[in-house]
Amino acid sequence: MKFINSFLVFCTLFISQTFLINASPIKRTPPSFELQNTAIYFKKPDNWNNQIYAYIYSNNSNNVIKSEWPGFSMRSIDDGYYSLVLQHKYFPDFKVIFTDGQNQVPGVNQEGFVLTMDAVYNQTGIIGISYNKPYFYYNKSEKLAYGNIAKVYYRPSHKGVDLYLKDMYAHFKIGSGEWNNIPGELMEYDPYTMFYTITIDLGKAESITLTFTDGEGYWDNNNEMNYEFKKFSNFFIDNY
Ligand SMILES: *[C@@H]1O[C@H](CO)[C@@H](O)[C@H](O)[C@H]1NC(C)=O
Ligand SMILES: *[C@@H]1O[C@H](CO)[C@@H](O)[C@H](O)[C@H]1NC(C)=O
Ligand SMILES: *[C@@H]1O[C@H](CO)[C@@H](O)[C@H](O)[C@H]1NC(C)=O
Repeated sequence: MKFINSFLVFCTLFISQTFLINASPIKRTPPSFELQNTAIYFKKPDNWNNQIYAYIYSNNSNNVIKSEWPGFSMRSIDDGYYSLVLQHKYFPDFKVIFTDGQNQVPGVNQEGFVLTMDAVYNQTGIIGISYNKPYFYYNKSEKLAYGNIAKVYYRPSHKGVDLYLKDMYAHFKIGSGEWNNIPGELMEYDPYTMFYTITIDLGKAESITLTFTDGEGYWDNNNEMNYEFKKFSNFFIDNY
């Protein structure tokens, strides 16, 4: 897993956009979730103050986003939930500590919770993955909703750049269940970020195992190891 520099992304995006406009009549529905940003949510304990912060750090000490305690101010949304929108580059090698300036979880001298895209936390850790897009609360009639879902982000190697103009399917099994039928479920494509995405409901399962195919001979099964994720993970595969 790696993050690439933004100039490279920009160039590639430009090329791929040009391709799409000039060469491809493909029409797709917009991605089911936001690809530039992601949000985390925290359900505040009742006895905490109303100003909540998320302190985000990396266990790699060279990789601190913001060193000053207490961290980023979170926005109060509804029913005691707070939200913070972040860019993808802050995931997945980071940890988060929530605080009101006096109290904190996890406690002093304990390791933070794993920073996970779209995760909803309470004081015990992650309690679900949100269905919502970041900033959803600007629509007053939309409520925070979460569950045991996998929001999968997948970007294949650019060595097969023509893949970006094709369909991509997620061939997967949930927990110890059966694999879905080949080629799998059609993913949504975002030409701007070149990520394929899909949301999969994991029900009561603790894990998901995935491979990806274009249905025409391209298979990415992670060098025969498949992509395995525990529930409430960063379901993020960037092989660009
Ligand atoms: C940080 O923690 C994650 C998960 O706990 C681990 O996979 C990763 O290797 C760690 N990174 C460093 C630099 O220690
Ligand atoms: C945190 O969420 C879990 C899972 O929904 C729940 O069982 C637990 O009671 C919650 N803890 C608090 C302190 O609200
Ligand atoms: C706001 O949210 C409601 C409920 O999810 C939805 O039906 C409606 O289309 C949304 N409005 C806008 C402008 O997105």
